[in-house]
Amino acid sequence: MSAKPNDLALRERAVKVIPNGMFGHEATHLLPASFPQFFSKAKGAYIWDVDGNRYLDMMCAYGPNLLGYGDERVDAAATRQLALGDTMTGPGAVLVELSETLVSMVSHADWAMVCKNGTDATTMAMTVARAQTGKRRILVADGAYHGAAPWCTPMPGGIVPEERAFISKYAWNDISSLEAAVAEAGDDLAAIFASPFKHDAFQDQTLPDPAYARLARELCDATGAKLIVDDVRAGFRLVRDCSWELVGVRPDLSSWGKSFANGHPISALLGSDSCRVGAEAIYATGSFWFSAVPMAAAIETLRILRESDYLEHMVALGTKLREGLEPVAARHGFSLRQTGPVQMPQILFDEDPDFRIGFAWAEAMLERGVYVHPWHNMFLNAAMTEADIDLLLEAADGALAHVRKSVAALQPHPLLMLMLGAH
Ligand SMILES: Cc1ncc(COP(=O)(O)O)c(C=O)c1O
Repeated sequence: MSAKPNDLALRERAVKVIPNGMFGHEATHLLPASFPQFFSKAKGAYIWDVDGNRYLDMMCAYGPNLLGYGDERVDAAATRQLALGDTMTGPGAVLVELSETLVSMVSHADWAMVCKNGTDATTMAMTVARAQTGKRRILVADGAYHGAAPWCTPMPGGIVPEERAFISKYAWNDISSLEAAVAEAGDDLAAIFASPFKHDAFQDQTLPDPAYARLARELCDATGAKLIVDDVRAGFRLVRDCSWELVGVRPDLSSWGKSFANGHPISALLGSDSCRVGAEAIYATGSFWFSAVPMAAAIETLRILRESDYLEHMVALGTKLREGLEPVAARHGFSLRQTGPVQMPQILFDEDPDFRIGFAWAEAMLERGVYVHPWHNMFLNAAMTEADIDLLLEAADGALAHVRKSVAALQPHPLLMLMLGAH
């Protein structure tokens, strides 16, 4: 394991002034010990840690990097707007242009409300649905991640049960579970949340059964509840529209974030006219929500999405990765489970219930200049090339040969075991 003195020094300073030293889903507490916590720069498909090591980045900032870090077209649009003004006493014209653009691209949407993080957009979706229907109960798929607010965070710290009093769980993709949860909600059902595909951490990914998606729509229509697709993670990585267009189902509300300004901080709630009254009734705002720079970046990113083959390119590279990795793993006696869309791959090992092989492979890949994740889905971006995938496959060959030699001595990650026990 290569030493990372600058990272170590920052960690030591961080624990004194930041609870846990770091927090949230970008903390490396649940990754192999050699994973760097701090980065100095990013360009295209690559990131550099604070010790100067360069990695092909298969996490893409957990989604926001869609066209490549520091895309010059997007950043030029942001810089032009910055010269004019960013956070002002009111929004710029870019707010209207961006809202028009989102409404024109996403089939179910008649209106847009911009915000800052994905959690803003999912929380607002819930609030709008309640305001529109006058009902309280929200159905959420068990294990699905919708953000870091008391109603949905996966960790219980500081949250009282009353904050989740009207949140019920159902099993994603499971028709009878959804029917039972809707029946139990009775006449108090405000909304059903659905992830576009099952992309929960620590698990294989699953694509939606169209019958489940259609049923969610039908149950909402029958009860007057609103259907919400949380497209924060998958938005514009599957299709240039809401992800459930792929199964022919249109939600009333969809939450967006992460990628549509290629890393500039902005998110959005999109809705149909069936929810306009509710959207007009809620109080939702923030000091930075109307910053113009991320909006200009979003308008340019969305133009590129419409006019380029970014998606087809990512799918081609993802397919090359999936098809190329399997024989490499097999050569070293490992059997992989590669699930989900190829451009958002989850890569887990068979016979690895406590992820010790996954951790060892991630660590060995890092040593070879590739940042992969042992238990979270990864992301491709449009700046990647065939040469990058070749580099990854070559690194995998070396990494898996190394893991094969040490497999009998591997130990599970103690913190991860605690976490999985609580999961
Ligand atoms: C599906 C999904 N919904 C909501 C969120 C929350 O977004 P944010 O972290 O920007 O608040 C995330 C973040 O990872 C997500 O993946």
